[in-house]
This record gives sequence, structure tokens and C-alpha cells, in this order.
Amino acid sequence: MGKVHVLDHPLIQHKLSYIRDKTTGTKEFRELVDEVAALMAFEVTRDLPLEDADIETPVGPARVKKLAGKKLGLIPILRAGIGMSDGILNMIPAARVGHVGLYRDPETFKPIEYYVKLPKDIEERELLVIDPMLATGGSVVEAINSLKKRGAKNMRLICLVAAPEGVQYVQEEHPDVDIYLAALDEKLNEKGYIVPGLGDAGDRLFGTK
Ligand code: PRP
Ligand code: URA
Repeated sequence: MGKVHVLDHPLIQHKLSYIRDKTTGTKEFRELVDEVAALMAFEVTRDLPLEDADIETPVGPARVKKLAGKKLGLIPILRAGIGMSDGILNMIPAARVGHVGLYRDPETFKPIEYYVKLPKDIEERELLVIDPMLATGGSVVEAINSLKKRGAKNMRLICLVAAPEGVQYVQEEHPDVDIYLAALDEKLNEKGYIVPGLGDAGDRLFGTK
């Protein structure tokens, strides 16, 4: 079963409070999501392997640590996942980026895939799948199905806010995927929104309605 990590760092929690607040406007919302994504990247990559390297500092030789060349990939789920991708890319600029486009049918809540474009070597990469909202879990489960069908083997999921229903569904369907969250909320409402959540992440990020 995939582990659930709730990243309760004070900076993440503080910024998330403003993200949740309905009076936070689009510009600030987008900036805060970007910042929280960068802070989450710090925790999500904590176990990346390091290797020794020999360099010269201005004072003399030194043995230092560098990332052991593990190939990473970032997979934002369109469209709201885009809001988290720059923050993470600022921390790991060498990562390749693939996109999976899905939207949730507002009546059935079923995900509908409309776009997939991935780096060629996804089977060799550790993929960070990103979507701010894990509600019923339908979108993420479908996105991971789509990635696995195309060869992806190693994935971690990063979301801002999740409902217990979505976490459970991902754990059942993809027990090999660890889940990183800024918050695990209470429940879903009858419209499939996370309660208390933050509303519609895509609309708040892009100023649509
Ligand atoms: C939102 C969100 C997730 C999905 C979560 O996307 O970004 O992808 O809903 O819901 P689920 O867990 O019940 O599937 P939405 O369908 O609103 O599309 P958008 O990102 O294009 O706004
Ligand atoms: N999608 C969102 O953007 N927000 C929710 O609360 C649920 C699904």
C-alpha cells in the first residue's frame, strides 16, 4: 500500500491557509500555489540518492555530494496541475515534463482524457505526478493508468489537498504510488468538492468560472 505523507511544515501550512481563503485573488492564489509546490518538492525529494564528487574549492580539494543522476520527470495533470509545475521545476530544473490532460465531467465526476504528451524515456524516470486536488481520485487514477499503459514504472503523487475517498481510491488502484499532501481534508460534498478544500483549483488559478 502506498504511504501517505502529510507535509505539515509550518510554511506550507501557513501558505495553504491563504490558498484556502475565498478572499484570496487569482494573482496571489497562483503565487502561493507556486511557493507551496516548491516547498513540497523539498520534502518529496528528500530520499534522492547522492554520490561523491571531487571538486576544487578556492581553498583546496574537497569531496562533495551531488545527485546521483537519477532521471526525474514531472507530470502535471491539466489543467490545474500546471499551477504547481513551475514551483517544482525551480527546484529540479533538469526534470523533463510530460502532460496528461483530463477534466472531470461535472455530472458523473468521471475523468475524460483529452491530451497526453510524455518524454520518450518515461520508463526510466522517477515521475512526480502533480495535481492540486485529489477529490474522488478518478482523475489521478486515470492519469496513472494512462502513464503505466505507456511504460511508466516509478511514480509519486503530489497534491495540495485530498479527501479521504480519493486517497483510498488511489491506494486501492495504485498501491505502488506514495502520496504527498499539504493537507488531508474531511470529506467530499454532494458536488464532489473537497470540504473544506479550496474550491475549484483550476478556476482559481486561471481566473475562469
Ligand atoms: C480538478 C482537479 C483534479 C480533479 C480532481 O480538475 O484539478 O484534476 O478535478 O477531482 P477527482 O479527484 O474527483 O477526479 P478539473 O476536472 O476541474 O479540471 P481542470 O484542472 O481543467 O480545471
Ligand atoms: N476539483 C477541484 O478543483 N476542487 C475540488 O474540491 C474537487 C475537484
